[in-house]
Amino acid sequence: AQAQEIFKIGLILPMTGASASTGRQIEAAAKLYMAQNGDTVAGKKVQLIVKDDTGVADVTKRLAQELIVNDKVGAVAGFGLTPLALSVAPLATQAKVPQVVMAAATATITEASPFIVRTSFTLPQATQPMAEWASANGMKKVVTLVTDYGPGIDAEKTFTATFTKAGGTVENMRVPLANPDFSPFLQKVADAKPDALFVFVPSGYGAQFMRQFTERGLDKSGIKLIGTGDVTDDDLLNGMGDAALGVVTSHHYSAVHDSAENKAFVAAFKKAAGFRPNFMGVGGYDGMHVLYEGLKKTNGVGGEALVNAIKGMAWTSVRGPVSIDPQTRDIIQNVYIRKVEKVDGELHNVEFATIPNVKDPVKAAK
Ligand code: DHB
Repeated sequence: AQAQEIFKIGLILPMTGASASTGRQIEAAAKLYMAQNGDTVAGKKVQLIVKDDTGVADVTKRLAQELIVNDKVGAVAGFGLTPLALSVAPLATQAKVPQVVMAAATATITEASPFIVRTSFTLPQATQPMAEWASANGMKKVVTLVTDYGPGIDAEKTFTATFTKAGGTVENMRVPLANPDFSPFLQKVADAKPDALFVFVPSGYGAQFMRQFTERGLDKSGIKLIGTGDVTDDDLLNGMGDAALGVVTSHHYSAVHDSAENKAFVAAFKKAAGFRPNFMGVGGYDGMHVLYEGLKKTNGVGGEALVNAIKGMAWTSVRGPVSIDPQTRDIIQNVYIRKVEKVDGELHNVEFATIPNVKDPVKAAK
């Protein structure tokens, strides 16, 4: 008998370091997807190879090179932070290997290689609805505080442009990605007394931010805390305590998203992994979905054919209805406005408004 062909997926993730929760989420979700959908697709055996890049771009790049050249993977996937995704883009282009970005969310990433497909989100996509909501809800003066790199700068620019166009005023502050200390910035916010503080920190950094926000007494200052949902990600949120109650954010996924698909997903994920899924887990789960469904369409052929098969794909995700924009290879999805509330004794992002089928606004404007 002929040996069955293998389609290898190199899953490169930060499994240690400040973004370890992103790695832990995506690994658990990819394994769950395979447990639920089997490990053969289009006659090929699917093999997941998980590598820890520790959140360092040089390591991501070296691992991707090894996976492509030595292991001959059919796809590279994961990418917990923007610089990690960007470091691999030239390799994907050169080797014609699909690169599924499951986490990183700076708008420009998909432009770095025609082999990139993204199942996470973009910061402009998540931020614009928040700026519109803030303006429509009577806020006039907002301070933005963002982590000083790609996604934070995207969030700052989108919030500022949208909110000032609607007549508001904005003051911008940026905090470093490595070992951030939010305290001096939070003191300035307390002195400036805006209607709201808009915050972006990457997934995994929210707990420290909330602790310093509370230590400075800002939870009792009357300054409303708003942001994209990265700061209240469902993995860490429940440990943040009651200071997080009432925080309003915009994002594409909540663990209490009300759909049959999501209820089944959350139950299966918790059972398999032992913790709550967050938006990173869902990016990983849907990233596996596009690879599986793409391979079915190409009869197991990879490379450019696989990327083309993924373009335009539409399905009901656990986050709601989604599709892959055939022009940009970014995901088109609903953005929800949510408020932190207690549900069955746990803190959750409870969705209360939906902005349907949002494209990345930066690329839509080009
Ligand atoms: C990125 C990382 C995150 O953890 C997040 O929540 C959003 C964006 C990034 O580096 O692109």
